[in-house]
Amino acid sequence: MAKRDWIASVVMLAAALGIAGAYAPAFQTEGDKAPSLMAAHAADAVLPAGRSETMKGFDALTRKALAGDYEAARYHPIHFPPNIATSNRTDCLMCHAEIVKDRPRVESQAGVKGDSVLAWYQTLDSYEGRQESFHWRHLESPLAKQVMNLECTFCHQGSDPREQSPDFTVPAALMKANNGQPPFTLRKRVNPSETCLRCHGTFPYQNMELTGPWHEQRADMEPDGTPNGCLTCHAAIRSERHNVTYLNKDGIEKAAENSSDVCYGCHGGRSWYRISYPYPRNPWPDMDKDTVPEWAKGRPDKSEARYLTRAK
Ligand code: HEC
Ligand code: HEC
Ligand code: HEC
Ligand code: HEC
Ligand code: HEC
Repeated sequence: MAKRDWIASVVMLAAALGIAGAYAPAFQTEGDKAPSLMAAHAADAVLPAGRSETMKGFDALTRKALAGDYEAARYHPIHFPPNIATSNRTDCLMCHAEIVKDRPRVESQAGVKGDSVLAWYQTLDSYEGRQESFHWRHLESPLAKQVMNLECTFCHQGSDPREQSPDFTVPAALMKANNGQPPFTLRKRVNPSETCLRCHGTFPYQNMELTGPWHEQRADMEPDGTPNGCLTCHAAIRSERHNVTYLNKDGIEKAAENSSDVCYGCHGGRSWYRISYPYPRNPWPDMDKDTVPEWAKGRPDKSEARYLTRAK
């Protein structure tokens, strides 16, 4: 977000809070001066009731930021660990409302129309509507709401404006952004190997006693009356799955009744990577606990504690 956009969003927010109606025209003609005109009013702004307890602790600072102080906003302590871990979506959307509102171009600068090119997953029944932004597809789409519960902080575990990374110079105990590993500095704002890879890895058929990739095996696994061939095996094998806060376990099983595309969508169908996520191997009822396959050696036997929904 550039500084000018920030000022524009402050004006929009102020308008939404009903404090700047009269000043908006001034912004159009006087540019940068508008926020100072608003400052006195923003200081009394009613902050959204749904903000987190952590955010409430910074009210004075938030008002300063909303009054147009760009640096106070950019370095707002809610961005930094440990505060970010106990923040909520309302906190972030106070300043980043564009995240769920921005829409992609209908046509690229080179003239390619968005609806004239389709990826595999866009041809599925699970894909609804026109092209939307990345954030919308993960937070707001009907499919996203059915199968997962992603919060801003699942992906954004910190935001260091200098390194443009989720990691900070903080005590080692707080460095959780890389799954307990030492932090990295790749100037990426989220850590893809602990976020995207979980749902956008390759289908690991080599681990499944399948002789080839899903598009080759699928027909054999899905005779008439079997809409979801994954469940032929996965009703019994690795059945203790998805017990984590960032997924909607029941929503997934319901959506998957009619098609394996739902399962495959997160386990190979939208694979932006040539590797798979090394999933934890939560014990299932008939598991042979004595023999661990070669590929599974060293895998955790429980989903990460920070995401557990129920102790199993
Ligand atoms: C008080 C306003 C405010 C709040 C609250 C806030 N941010 Fe920010 N955030 C900013 C500003 C301003 C920047 C700097 C944008 C820039 O310099 O490009 C920023 C930068 C960022 C960036 C880096 C993006 C970039 O373009 O540099 C991320 C990611 C981010 N914020 C995420 C969050 C998340 C997640 C939350 C909630 C936990 C949050 N922010 C809460 C105002 C805020
Ligand atoms: C599925 C993971 C994911 C979720 C959930 C998510 N983000 Fe992001 N966000 C990203 C990625 C990836 C980028 C681009 C990072 C980069 O450029 O290095 C990004 C970029 C941003 C930026 C920078 C501006 C931009 O548009 O590129 C802001 C601000 C931001 N996110 C805020 C939020 C807020 C607020 C939420 C919750 C409402 C949220 N994000 C939820 C992954 C996510
Ligand atoms: C918890 C699972 C999950 C995680 C984590 C996740 N995604 Fe996704 N992603 C999905 C699902 C489900 C969809 C399909 C949404 C739909 O069709 O409405 C999707 C769709 C997409 C799309 C297609 C969007 C479109 O408009 O067609 C892209 C690109 C993408 N994800 C990239 C990423 C990146 C990059 C990350 C990491 C920052 C990430 N995803 C993290 C589950 C996830
Ligand atoms: C022929 C039976 C079979 C079919 C069909 C099958 N799987 Fe598997 N799957 C397995 C077996 C066996 C394992 C490994 C069990 C273990 O951990 O010992 C496995 C493991 C997995 C894993 C964990 C991989 C890892 O590295 O930890 C995922 C994810 C998975 N399957 C998803 C799917 C999805 C999605 C489908 C349908 C598109 C599917 N499976 C179809 C038998 C099958
Ligand atoms: C929204 C994306 C998404 C969908 C849809 C989805 N999965 Fe998963 N799956 C995941 C993620 C993420 C994990 C790792 C969860 C964790 O942290 O333990 C996972 C884990 C697994 C595992 C390993 C379980 C373990 O803990 O040993 C199997 C097997 C699996 N999924 C099969 C399936 C099957 C079968 C379906 C369809 C019924 C399906 N998945 C649908 C994202 C998804």
